[in-house]
Amino acid sequence: MKSSPETTSRHTRTNAARTPLTRVVNLHKAFGSNTVLNGVSLEFMAGETTVVLGPSGTGKSVLLKHIVGLLRPDAGEVYFHDQRVDQLKEPALVAIRTRIGFLFQMGALFDSRTVYENVEFPLHEHAQRKRRERRDQAEKVLRMVGLPDIGRKMPGDLSGGQRKRVALARAIVLEPELMLYDEPTTGLDPITADLINELIVTLAENLGVTSIAVTHDMVSARKIGDRMVLLHSGKVIADEAADRFVNLEDEQVQHFIQGKADDEDLRRIREGFQSLS
Ligand SMILES: Nc1ncnc2c1ncn2[C@@H]1O[C@H](COP(=O)(O)OP(=O)(O)O)[C@@H](O)[C@H]1O
Ligand SMILES: [Mg+2]
Repeated sequence: MKSSPETTSRHTRTNAARTPLTRVVNLHKAFGSNTVLNGVSLEFMAGETTVVLGPSGTGKSVLLKHIVGLLRPDAGEVYFHDQRVDQLKEPALVAIRTRIGFLFQMGALFDSRTVYENVEFPLHEHAQRKRRERRDQAEKVLRMVGLPDIGRKMPGDLSGGQRKRVALARAIVLEPELMLYDEPTTGLDPITADLINELIVTLAENLGVTSIAVTHDMVSARKIGDRMVLLHSGKVIADEAADRFVNLEDEQVQHFIQGKADDEDLRRIREGFQSLS
């Protein structure tokens, strides 16, 4: 099949071998009486970027934490390649985590350490590298995020977007197979958010890294996602290729895409006001 250069994107490239790099099977997780995941099964394909959408508090971060074994399910299974993650003990989990880059929502840097020291931190922890090699690797990933000259600065001297990019550099310094992004654009201005989205796409395309991004930002989702999943009330409501997802007629999907409030919630608010008068 011939395609023009414009359409030879990761969308077509990834169709060749759709094997899951990681998957969760029938995950259940509750905190006390708060059921968060109520039977979630998802496969995340190698080379693809999957966006997991859902309103705040639906368990998107909880899902990511299960994938890296930071939380254990009440029931269900988590796999990385063919290895069962949810039953692993710490040393084996640590080994898996070195293959996964995690950009946390609060992407916290060590404020009392330089950018270099922050980015090199995982190399100290998990890899036996010489000082020069660590510095070379840090410089390489800082170049990748477009910040070649800031290694000696302190995080406090950087803008919010720059700090996010340093956190991203740190997340990729061990050259992970899988990148997890938790709300990568939340709290950023639209221009900085766009830059982060571009970086996510660039890393996926150039490093071939498989990515899972959790967000409630549809602009970001459309920009980066090959596939989109909507979580709601502990369940997967929709799981589709990105172009099909945005055209789904499902009411909850369209409400989410258009940023429309839930009819039930609106009705309750109106009734609440009426009861006041
Ligand atoms: N460690 C925890 N202990 C108790 N409750 C938690 C914990 N982590 C998350 N929760 C609860 O699980 C629900 C989903 O949280 P989260 O995954 O952070 O939502 P989001 O979709 O916004 O990322 C929330 O009600 C949250 O309060
Ligand atoms: Mg969250």
